[in-house]
Amino acid sequence: MNSLSNGGSAAARQFPEGFLWGTGTSSYQIEGAVSADGRGPSIWDVFAHAPGNTFHGDTGDVACDSYNRLEDDVAIIRELGVGAYRFSVSWPRVLPSGSGTVNQAGLDYYRRLCERLLEHGIQPVVTVYHWDLPQALEETGGWANRDTAYRMGELAQVLGTALGDQVRMWITINEPLQTVHQGYRAGTHAPGKRDDALAAAATHHIMLAHGLATQALRACTPAGTRIGPTMDTQPYIALDSASEAVADILDADFNRVYLDPVLRGSYPDAARTGFRPPDELIQDGDLEITATPIDFLGVNYYRPHHVRSGDWEDLRLGERRIGGFPGFVQYMAPDLPRTVMEWGIVPESLRDLLLRLHRESGGLPLYITENGCAADDYISPAGTIDDHERVGYIHGHLGAALEAIAAGVNVGGYFHWSLMDNFEWAEGYRRRFGLFYVDFESGRRVAKRSAHFYAQVARSGELPPLQDVVPSGERLPDVPATPAAV
Ligand code: BGC
Repeated sequence: MNSLSNGGSAAARQFPEGFLWGTGTSSYQIEGAVSADGRGPSIWDVFAHAPGNTFHGDTGDVACDSYNRLEDDVAIIRELGVGAYRFSVSWPRVLPSGSGTVNQAGLDYYRRLCERLLEHGIQPVVTVYHWDLPQALEETGGWANRDTAYRMGELAQVLGTALGDQVRMWITINEPLQTVHQGYRAGTHAPGKRDDALAAAATHHIMLAHGLATQALRACTPAGTRIGPTMDTQPYIALDSASEAVADILDADFNRVYLDPVLRGSYPDAARTGFRPPDELIQDGDLEITATPIDFLGVNYYRPHHVRSGDWEDLRLGERRIGGFPGFVQYMAPDLPRTVMEWGIVPESLRDLLLRLHRESGGLPLYITENGCAADDYISPAGTIDDHERVGYIHGHLGAALEAIAAGVNVGGYFHWSLMDNFEWAEGYRRRFGLFYVDFESGRRVAKRSAHFYAQVARSGELPPLQDVVPSGERLPDVPATPAAV
């Protein structure tokens, strides 16, 4: 629990004037309609269809069928009373072969979506790249090929020109770390590569793509348009002094290789080979491009990682080896509340992350562009979806955001992940992150209890005491502070 769980004054529970409330999705996770109206294949179509890559062999072929249910989705966003909706553009819907010929039908779909949102006073917030690279570009090397960065610059220019009068806030890339790590190092996401050299190359090219997209958007959108990347900076928390140096290297490998080229125009020396892009790939002027000024930093936060000393040959409960660091383990306290993804629930880590990024970005506006939890939701016989754990999760993390704001961090908004249950990548449809439940057979969307709670907060701008939103007799897990060192 944090200081605002049940205590705290009404003033301390109030979000600042103009705070942007939103929710988000991404194209491959919700749209379906993978062959409609000239869309080309993406790396996720190919990856999900290959045996063994996703839970149950699930694919995004239909997903939430949002491409055909645009009106339904705008209607549920309205129910939430939020001021903004974050969605991503399917690159192969707009440029079916990754570059060159534009598919007007694809652009029209996004223009229509923006139009409908704006009619209801909801601001579209558009992510240019959320993981569904056109397969045609994968065939020329994907993110390991420098040319892909220029192709993303081209995409941004096409989008900025077509939607620039409707969209005032753009996110260039979503979580470059996951594209690189899961896509090129661990092989758990498309395109399923397991090669450190490709991963290090992809790191530089996706950061270059961010810079080129920022410049392209800036050049073709009206003055006042806000542009920034979204990072999923992972908190590595050392639980003993011996592991501090390890946590610092992990921070360089997994976080600073993405933050520093944007915020400092450099890659961290502390990052290991296979993480830091090799010098021969960095051309003159590249780091000026990656460091093109941005208007905000998007922050996706789900959980922290705890690191401590531990015997690799005698692992204890909650310990996992950390590759490359014999004698050090990632640790999760057995009593730490966790979601069904086995992700520990530690809201104060969000507060600390916001404080860190505030310092490191020189006070840039920060937007929490994703935060949320998967739960085993089901429709009760009474027709309700009583996702208490999600209500508790949101409450805790909004409390953490308020604490960061009180400490002077400029947090401009919060986008809950996700608007509705959707295709959770390699986990398929078994992991539900939505405020709205989706019955994937019929496509029906049903508001969960968390949707009602979130709507109340978004409309009032105030976080009520937890005891007021969780009826007596219902108990939410306490969220303990960081586990003690051993
Ligand atoms: C991604 C989302 C994903 C969510 C939950 C983030 O890494 O941006 O697409 O669904 O986390 O795993």
